[in-house]
Amino acid sequence: MSTVFERLQNSLQTTRFGKRIFFAPRIESTNDWARQLAEAGAEEGTVTVAQTQTGGRGRLGRQWISPQGGLWFSIILRPRQEPHDAAKLVFVTGLAVVEALHKKYGLRTETKWPNDVLINSKKVCGILSEMNTKGQTVNYVIVGVGVNANLCVEDDLPESLKTTSTSIMKELSRKIRLGPLLKVLLEEMERIYDYYLKNGFALLLEKWKKHAVFLGRKVTITNHNERLSGLALDVDVKGALILKLEDETTRRILTGDVALIS
Ligand code: BTN
Repeated sequence: MSTVFERLQNSLQTTRFGKRIFFAPRIESTNDWARQLAEAGAEEGTVTVAQTQTGGRGRLGRQWISPQGGLWFSIILRPRQEPHDAAKLVFVTGLAVVEALHKKYGLRTETKWPNDVLINSKKVCGILSEMNTKGQTVNYVIVGVGVNANLCVEDDLPESLKTTSTSIMKELSRKIRLGPLLKVLLEEMERIYDYYLKNGFALLLEKWKKHAVFLGRKVTITNHNERLSGLALDVDVKGALILKLEDETTRRILTGDVALIS
């Protein structure tokens, strides 16, 4: 029996993205599943999607809570690029999520460096990209996207996430269909990814920055090693956050989490 996701393959307005969609009701992580398929030679655009994940992964080694009602999927990309360019793909994907949610539901979203999409300062989507290299080139990148689609924030998420998360259902006060959501996301992702491969990153980054509410604000950055506070000045062409510290020096930050200091 085919699912709404597998049936999508025929209606998608894409050339590669989602031409093969693998669905599981329950799996550990769609990123791991996509990686196994990529290792076995699956083509660019192959998608894995699950109703629930038992070991969903977030950035910085965190767990990603993935109950039924969310849209949890991963896509295999094979950009002909050097590994240091792969960081740009989270911005490309983030912008695609912004555009898709606006096109389909009229939602106005914000971007938070490096990989979050928010509505009214609350997280609605996270992106996890994991790369595999061969020598000096990218072999494949798995881009995992988690969208709090029909989550009931109060019931479905742990206490620690309730005040910082939202869902599309909560924002629209109605349930949405996950099939059409995946369709518009894949269409926007392919459109913006192809633009990026052809024209480069600069203009897309400018568009991404238009939604970046944290820019020009005082923030705290936390990562594995340190915690820094300062003014978020910019995101540079390599995707690094430029932070002005209290002693007026600037730092390029490559990884971490941003929190606004209100
Ligand atoms: C983050 O914000 O920390 C990134 C979250 C990414 C979650 C998605 S859900 C689909 C895919 N499979 C995973 O295990 N993680 C990503």
